Amino acid sequence: MSKIESILTESRVFEASENTQNQVALNATSIAQMYEKASKDHVGFWSDLAREKLVWSTPFTVGLDDSNAPHFEWFSDGELNVSYNCIDRHLATKSDKLAIIFEADDGSVDRYTYKELHDQVCRFANTLVSQGIQKGDRVVIYMPMIPQAVIAMQACARIGAIHSVVFGGFSAESLRDRIENAGAKLVITANAGRRGGKTIPLKQAVDEALEKGGDHVRKVIVFKRTNDDVPMQAGRDIDWYDAEAGMSNYHDPVMVNSEHPLFLLYTSGSTGKPKGVQHSTGGYLLNAHVTNEWMFDLSDNDVFWCTADVGWITGHTYVAYGPLSVGATILMFEGVPTYPDAGRFWKMCQDHGVTIFYTAPTAIRALMKFGAELPSQYDLSKLRILGTVGEPINPEAWIWYYNEIGGARCPVIDTWWQTETGAHMIAPFPVTPLKPGSCAKALPGIDAVILDEEGGALGTDEGGLLVIKKPWPSMIRNVWGDEARYQQTYFPLKDSVAGGETLYVVGDSAYQDKDGYFWILGRVDDVLNVSGHRLGTMEIESALVAHPKVAEAAVVSRPDDIKGEAISAFVVLNTGISHDETEREALVQELREWVAKEIGAIAKPSDIHFGSNLPKTRSGKIMRRLLKTLARGEEILQDTSTLEDPSVLEQFKKPKSL
Ligand code: WTA
Repeated sequence: MSKIESILTESRVFEASENTQNQVALNATSIAQMYEKASKDHVGFWSDLAREKLVWSTPFTVGLDDSNAPHFEWFSDGELNVSYNCIDRHLATKSDKLAIIFEADDGSVDRYTYKELHDQVCRFANTLVSQGIQKGDRVVIYMPMIPQAVIAMQACARIGAIHSVVFGGFSAESLRDRIENAGAKLVITANAGRRGGKTIPLKQAVDEALEKGGDHVRKVIVFKRTNDDVPMQAGRDIDWYDAEAGMSNYHDPVMVNSEHPLFLLYTSGSTGKPKGVQHSTGGYLLNAHVTNEWMFDLSDNDVFWCTADVGWITGHTYVAYGPLSVGATILMFEGVPTYPDAGRFWKMCQDHGVTIFYTAPTAIRALMKFGAELPSQYDLSKLRILGTVGEPINPEAWIWYYNEIGGARCPVIDTWWQTETGAHMIAPFPVTPLKPGSCAKALPGIDAVILDEEGGALGTDEGGLLVIKKPWPSMIRNVWGDEARYQQTYFPLKDSVAGGETLYVVGDSAYQDKDGYFWILGRVDDVLNVSGHRLGTMEIESALVAHPKVAEAAVVSRPDDIKGEAISAFVVLNTGISHDETEREALVQELREWVAKEIGAIAKPSDIHFGSNLPKTRSGKIMRRLLKTLARGEEILQDTSTLEDPSVLEQFKKPKSL
């Protein structure tokens, strides 16, 4: 049964355990009151929360400003600082409380109290200023998953610099694109990182990226994470600690307008290169803060572990900002779930007394393969809430997670959201009755609907476009440097902005069941979701055709038991390139490595199929539906009479899988 079929037949409902009901701050009544308030007064609801949950240096008087729709501004005459809200405000009451517990790849542990985090962030903020960085400047962060990544992000926020974190798994080419698009003045990196017992070079990629571009980058700050020496370019590169020498532990946070961009985060779309999703300060932090309280019941006594890397939006909202804003303790982990063995996550939950654990379905499916015996060796009794993010979770993985990790005691919070939404949008509260495979209902103040392609309403169980009808505080503000793309991508429907409503089109299809629960079916555009990571088919196709031996390429996904989706590439080689079977294997490797070099290892195709032409219609359009069928290894039942040359399909039937 495919993933989608299996959710269509899923009908189990799991009520919150008595334990959960008694423990959590928000019960069904208080949640119902929030929904009621939000539906009566959308702007008032968010504005009251913004006053209650955040500390403002200049209080706002304007809730929502929609005069420039579809650019929406929230709390736009208020001022605040994110780092102050995440750190300083807790110092009076919890300066000795742990803010970060860090476990390195080799198992060694480091701890930072809120006071220590404050001092480190201040020192680094002063360092950035001494290197010439000012409010509004862009700073690229290309780091391993270590506390210095969070310190760097918080330090940028403290001085009003706009950070753009690039996932350490992206290649030098991808890094360069992002550095250039953001117009970054400074790059923060590490000599290398450690993952699964291996050293992952990082500074080397920065050097390569800057060799052929990024001319506006004046300085590179290098944190020495391992003992490996890296070349340092005089005048440009500085060691983190040398740069920090003599810097004060105090820095007066720069208060910025609520709409000041906090960060850019690049993410894939259907067309072109990844786009820089621009987030705000006040609106972003508000949703980051409240969703940590609502979905995870996060409070003082919790140890919260979100396993996402800070290179992704999840690592921004549920590692670097949200939980600290709430004043909780976070666990950060440098390594991988299967090193030294597949019990690592569960051992860490036990050793650090993790109470809330948030990960991707891919990780659960991968660890499930090793059986329930591994987790059963560890004491997981402190866990009280589990979460998932990034891709649909199949009911089988949900049930395993619920039973084997949560001891049938902890709710599984399936959170639907995106880089662009900034924070959770559709998700259950811990007391919400749960249906495995559904992310339950839209949050209070989030108006989600299912519409057809013309914007018409659809009924119960009818699949269509997932659309958000009203602006919300943490929504994307713009695509950095590409206003047209912002409008075209997210507001393509006719009358997108009319009568106080806005039709933000998410890019996913979904349906709503009779109880109003949402079931996400997948992307409707050319975006792939591989292990919860977003990749555009066009990016991978452009990488492939940039290879000297490749004439044409088309990329589609096929279902994969662990990764959710796997990448299947269809390639036409240039004339004169040998089609000899014996050389194919080497060529497959060469192309996979090429894509890793162009984009990053996460974009490597799982299968490569070769042929002399792609299946195209007479008007020259590639028939991707047929390629999807071929990628699945299924028989072609579609009508192929519109193909220019139906015989091309035969050649593609033999994949070169790995
Ligand atoms: C998918 C990750 C089903 C969806 C936070 C969305 C999900 C894309 C879920 C955003 C979920 C995310 N169930 N699908 N709980 N969460 N998605 O920007 O297709 O990396 O549009 O943000 O992931 O991916 P992004």
